[in-house]
Amino acid sequence: MARFFKYKSPSEVSAEALALGHEMALASDLAPLFTPLRIGTVTVGNRLVVQPMEGCDGTLDGHPDELTFRRYRRFGAGGAKVLWGEAAAICDAGRANSRQLLVAEHTLAGLEQMLRECRQAHRDAFGSDSDLLVGLQLTHSGRYSYRQPLLATHDPVLDPLTRNREAGRAVSPSDPLLTDDDLARIEDDYVTAARRVANIGFDFIDLKQCHRYLLSELLAAKNRPGKYGGSLENRTRLVRNVLGRIRRDLPELMVATRLNCYDGIPYRGEGVGDNFIGQPCPHELPLVTAFGTDSQDHRREDLSEPIAVARMLRDAGVSLINVSAGNPYANPHVVRPAEFPPVDGYHAPEHPLLGVARHFRIARQIQAAVPEIPVVGSGYSWLQDFAPHAAAANVAAGYVSLAGFGRATLAHPDFARTLAAEGRLNRKQICRTFSYCTAMMRAKQHPLGQFPTGCPPFDKEAYGEIWQQIQDQR
Ligand SMILES: Cc1cc2nc3c(=O)[nH]c(=O)nc-3n(C[C@H](O)[C@H](O)[C@H](O)COP(=O)(O)O)c2cc1C
Repeated sequence: MARFFKYKSPSEVSAEALALGHEMALASDLAPLFTPLRIGTVTVGNRLVVQPMEGCDGTLDGHPDELTFRRYRRFGAGGAKVLWGEAAAICDAGRANSRQLLVAEHTLAGLEQMLRECRQAHRDAFGSDSDLLVGLQLTHSGRYSYRQPLLATHDPVLDPLTRNREAGRAVSPSDPLLTDDDLARIEDDYVTAARRVANIGFDFIDLKQCHRYLLSELLAAKNRPGKYGGSLENRTRLVRNVLGRIRRDLPELMVATRLNCYDGIPYRGEGVGDNFIGQPCPHELPLVTAFGTDSQDHRREDLSEPIAVARMLRDAGVSLINVSAGNPYANPHVVRPAEFPPVDGYHAPEHPLLGVARHFRIARQIQAAVPEIPVVGSGYSWLQDFAPHAAAANVAAGYVSLAGFGRATLAHPDFARTLAAEGRLNRKQICRTFSYCTAMMRAKQHPLGQFPTGCPPFDKEAYGEIWQQIQDQR
């Protein structure tokens, strides 16, 4: 079935990368992954991170539910020492789907239970949780808010691709933007959510600035008028204001951020069947609303602004940066290099190894720009059996401080424990990037408006039947 991933050893991956024009080291010694690291005031026991992975399995009013609790117990028992809790909305209007977690007064007991069960599972498995960090990603979905798009700015290529569900049409250039007053209220919502999350004991919050949700779109909003658009200072105003208030009011709370350092531009599939391949959408130059992207050539990064933002946030008190890229709806091959496309996607327009190399290249430059704070790299799952070898090489070389695993963790939540014990992953649980999880995330024909997501091939017990229901509807 595999089209691209045909490697039998780490050195074959390096050789292919080189043939494609990129140096990518893969180490045979995985020990660097198991060296402790100081993050803020905590020393974590290894360099392995469970990336934020939304399960879309909360209740309609934003509580974690049975599958959510189960996921965090499994992550807790899994052995990674940084658990980057998934996207949880700071307000109901900013939720990305009807089952996204919400940080509100009425959900705090549930979120606290999720955290408690996660930590307990870690203690049960390892005896202590003193070297474990658990955070929560605070999000406002902006243009991808499910009730209606809440726009930071207009984007000539993205607007026609962004659906306004209520209006039954795409976003149009005359649709209003969130006003400066709206954004000021959203700042308040962020600070309130941070306080709530700190009070129930999460170790850190993530001010989410990736994947073209609200704060990510603001970074790109060069064409927005007023005090939140135009200059880089204005485009970072919201995040800096929130950070300043958190530092003042909640000095003990560790603040992290997941930062898009390269947006690229939207792609769309062209062709039929296996030849339905991603192509860049028609666009005009210079690009104005693509953060971290060369304004004359969307395929190239221009990291001058992302580096400036990383330094600005470090100076303002961010202790941890998780580097990501792309837009899961508009250029999924950038966010998650994959063997097979998701239902709403197209076949890879580039070798997935190039997508992995892009993630590595970008994270390395951000880490080099802010050596004082740890950077987490993304985009490892496509490397499958050999993801740990690339992670170990990147950590050993100091290119990143930690390696984040996304889809891989749904298939193999105990990947870190298995690696530590056996020196390799369990072949029967390795994510093959067939995009079941994304397909489930995109399935909305459920009585609650959203199917939960997970890994049906490797977690049949929880997701086998749910996957079948989705198939039956097709
Ligand atoms: C089902 C699913 C849920 C995700 N949820 C989140 C999320 O809540 N927040 C986030 O920043 N990224 C989210 N992502 C992106 C992943 O964290 C990760 O960046 C991406 O899958 C690429 O990493 P990988 O190659 O290790 O999978 C999600 C991805 C998938 C497939």
